[in-house]
Amino acid sequence: MNIRMQPSNAPTFVDQFARHKHKLRISVTDRCNFKCLYCMPEHPQWTSKKQLLSWDELYQFCDFMVRRGIEQIRITGGEPLLRHGVVHFVEKLQSLRAYGLKRISMTSNAHYLKTHAVALKQAGLDDLNISLDSLDPIQFKQLTQKDLAPVIEGIAAAQAAGLKIKINTVLIQGLNDNQILPLAHWSIQQQVLLRFIEFMPLDGDQKWSRQQVVSEQEILNQLSQDFKLDQLRQTGADPARHYQINGHPIAIISTITHSFCDRCDRIRLTATGELYHCLFATQSLNIKAEIQQLHQLNVQQEQALTQSIATYIWHKKAGYAAIQQAQRAEQGIRKISMHMLGG
Ligand code: GTP
Ligand code: 5AD
Ligand code: SF4
Repeated sequence: MNIRMQPSNAPTFVDQFARHKHKLRISVTDRCNFKCLYCMPEHPQWTSKKQLLSWDELYQFCDFMVRRGIEQIRITGGEPLLRHGVVHFVEKLQSLRAYGLKRISMTSNAHYLKTHAVALKQAGLDDLNISLDSLDPIQFKQLTQKDLAPVIEGIAAAQAAGLKIKINTVLIQGLNDNQILPLAHWSIQQQVLLRFIEFMPLDGDQKWSRQQVVSEQEILNQLSQDFKLDQLRQTGADPARHYQINGHPIAIISTITHSFCDRCDRIRLTATGELYHCLFATQSLNIKAEIQQLHQLNVQQEQALTQSIATYIWHKKAGYAAIQQAQRAEQGIRKISMHMLGG
């Protein structure tokens, strides 16, 4: 039996390495108005709108999962603000707090944030992670094919609206590694938490190479040129490793050199109803049909769905290193990239 009862009688999903799943990431669209080098393929083939789960279906799934131990939901994309109705979805999720939902978050490129920041705050969004890979407008455009200015305005709007934000910066060797110090100084000025991210092999065109990764150690070396650096203690299942620069918080997500797989508490759903137990998984569980019928399932059918999700999650591999090894042995090819999985 792989669903353990918690004292509250809420079952939780757990994998074979005893990692309980409390965080659900939902990609609400694979579409994006940016074309980040580390994420989008050169020629993306968008999912047609009619293949997407509706907002109501997504809500039913969240309800189902919260009653089975999910405590945090992160809305991702593509770019979630591109899908009409996302603010209302955030508002609707509030009712799940009564059943144990503790946090509703979003990850966005912030291009349309100026328009939505106040509404998102009013809808009850707890926090927002924003991608910002360069403060240099020319470099920003090279990386994303979009302008920097709306993103900076979006960040300002989110701060003015009182939203809790964190900044994500994916670093690529020779492209934006010269942004480490400028962004670190900027984060102090803006009083925001900046997280540098090691480039992961999840780019749409599968061109990733180890040489392009700017490692945590290289980031720390650069930071120590300008700042007094202190390492903080790691907490819980946070993917980021925390530091202070001159007493100001900063963090690094270093999947390649310091994976946090042994503490992973996440699962993911794509906009078309594919469940992934790991960001690097090559096999998903298609539960689209079941999600679409959730409102009319009887008790036995609900149990059957719970069991098939539990079995899939149970088989989650140890982590990134184990998956890379298996992929090499089986020559497995990832069919999915970051823009479909939402990070
Ligand atoms: P919080 O820590 O709850 O704020 O969210 P987050 O950092 O997980 O979310 P975000 O969408 O901002 O992701 C930041 C970076 O962490 C992205 O590069 C994600 O791909 C990466 N990330 C998120 N979850 C995982 C995970 O389970 N495994 C790995 N390897 N990377 C992850
Ligand atoms: N490697 C690391 N992080 C990535 N992201 C997107 N693609 C990659 C990748 N290949 C990050 C984005 C965004 C988050 C959802 O995932 O910067 O902040
Ligand atoms: Fe979790 Fe997989 Fe990421 Fe490891 S690589 S932290 S197991 S999603």
